[in-house]
Amino acid sequence: MKALFSLNKYLWKYRWRLLLGIAFVTVSKIFSIYPVQAIGKAFDAVGDSIKIYKAMSPGLEQDAFYNTITDQIVMYSLIVFGFAILTGIFLFFTRMTIIVMSRLIEYDIKNDIFIHYQVLNTSFYKKNNTGDLMNRISEDVSRVRMYFGPAIMYTINLVVLFALVISTMIEVNAMLTLYVLLPLPFLSVIIYYVSHIINKKSERVQFHLSQISTFVQEAFSGIRVIKAYNQQHSKEVFFEKELVDYRNISLELVKTNALFMPMMTLLIGLSTIITIYVGGKLAISGEITMGNIAEFVIYVNMLTWPVASLGWVTSLVQRAAASQERINEFLHSVPEISNTNNDEIEISGKIEFKDVQFTYPGTNATILDGVSFTIQPGESLAIIGRTGSGKSTIASLLTRLYDVTNGCIEVDGIDVRKINLNILRKSIGYVPQEVFLFSETIANNIAFGQRDLKVSRAVIEEAAKNAEVYENILDFPNRFDTKVGERGITLSGGQKQRISIARAIIGKPSILVFDDCLSAVDTETEKKIISNLKTVMENRSTIIISHRISSVTHCDKIIVLDEGKIVESGNHDSLLKQSGIYAELYQKQLLEEVSIEV
Ligand SMILES: Nc1ncnc2c1ncn2[C@@H]1O[C@H](COP(=O)(O)OP(=O)(O)O)[C@@H](O)[C@H]1O
Ligand SMILES: [Mg+2]
Repeated sequence: MKALFSLNKYLWKYRWRLLLGIAFVTVSKIFSIYPVQAIGKAFDAVGDSIKIYKAMSPGLEQDAFYNTITDQIVMYSLIVFGFAILTGIFLFFTRMTIIVMSRLIEYDIKNDIFIHYQVLNTSFYKKNNTGDLMNRISEDVSRVRMYFGPAIMYTINLVVLFALVISTMIEVNAMLTLYVLLPLPFLSVIIYYVSHIINKKSERVQFHLSQISTFVQEAFSGIRVIKAYNQQHSKEVFFEKELVDYRNISLELVKTNALFMPMMTLLIGLSTIITIYVGGKLAISGEITMGNIAEFVIYVNMLTWPVASLGWVTSLVQRAAASQERINEFLHSVPEISNTNNDEIEISGKIEFKDVQFTYPGTNATILDGVSFTIQPGESLAIIGRTGSGKSTIASLLTRLYDVTNGCIEVDGIDVRKINLNILRKSIGYVPQEVFLFSETIANNIAFGQRDLKVSRAVIEEAAKNAEVYENILDFPNRFDTKVGERGITLSGGQKQRISIARAIIGKPSILVFDDCLSAVDTETEKKIISNLKTVMENRSTIIISHRISSVTHCDKIIVLDEGKIVESGNHDSLLKQSGIYAELYQKQLLEEVSIEV
């Protein structure tokens, strides 16, 4: 329950709405009590009048009396009708305040969660799977909303109704009240257990449902592989099995739900019988009137739902507390890498790795071991090495997606951990190895990092030209306004890489990092891009990570990385003279290129 305390700030924010809601509930309940009393009075009045009517001798006077009885009935009906309308109006206002409040809070919580998601580090995303994160922002939040909406509304409803109805009932007859209320606590407890079972089962249904959608989603995106390997049948079998599980648990849920209403009705019936039996005896002894019995029957029906909802609300609150605990657990997790400095500085681009050692959080292997190098402003450095040698890790450390384990990285002579993180990241144009494009237009994808600057179309086009993707874009149906991804065009790996390059160079950052971003581009295009980049890279420090030597021969410095250590360094010519790994790789790739061209 403690988890829910953290939500009080939202209640405080919407306190006026909540108070108004409470006022509306109270008024609507008061209006719903009056017609019941009217019905009781109508019963008694009509009963008395009929006795008088029968005692009268037939004639004009009796006919006139008959008319007054009908007038009375019409009057009571109008009273009941009028109050029903008033009750309805205020019920509408109640929902419009309290349920609206819960939706507003839901909106606030979702925003808070999303903002926090974006602050958390890459290592957080490695630990938690996407489905789980999605659940917190959708499922868990909607459960918490149930606490703010229905749970609060029904609780206020119950309190107000109890206070009003029970005091009215006791005024009529205390003993009858006691008897009539007797079954209600049982009802509440039963409902609590039944809703518990229903919730458990719904959760299982939900779980199976999300498994099925994950499966279907994967089948759609992997449809080409499935067809190519002729695995349609095995997928069908698997899907059917999942579906059978889903059907069975759904049917169980239906069974429990089906038992729920009859049970409720049975218990309400029990209360009604007690009312009539005990009330009848009291009426015979003259302690209460017939009208009182009618009144009580209605009171019992009025109380049953709120009392039943008490059990339901309890389980709602429990679920909300569990969900909020999950949300808090992550809202309270502090990002290890955060901005500690807001100094606005200009970065000129000197980069220095000083004896950097690195192990990924939660693992044991040392990925980088004693890596040191210096890049002067405007210089270019190439990193060559086998897959898994730690090249991409170097890029992640420079952009502070992770922090070093030992040693330090300096930019312009300052430890990166002390530089304003926003400035640092803004000053680095980073093309990650795994290209990611958003389902937006190509223009928006290229201008992605410059959102707050509003770049012109001409600037976007220039970036595209330098990345050698301009001609390709012109071939697309809507050119720069062509949508990428799901509901748009599918790009080839090389096109994606080049759009990603355009995205990095458009802001003219003082540092550029290209992580194997030419791997899916043919050698001819590669040559063109490199010659364009030479102009772009002028006066900018550049790190080019590659496994292809042809992309790096022009670089000022080249280091060869192997199992996290720098094993060779120099420039193209000096490395060739060393006749080591670099020279060997160069010979091999030269041969490959020749054989492709032949
Ligand atoms: N997020 C991560 N968590 C744990 N280990 C990782 C992670 N990313 C990469 N590694 C490991 O670090 C090593 C170096 O990876 P990486 O820098 O991507 O190499 P390269 O870019 O040279 O191919 C590999 O052995 C890889 O398995
Ligand atoms: Mg890599």
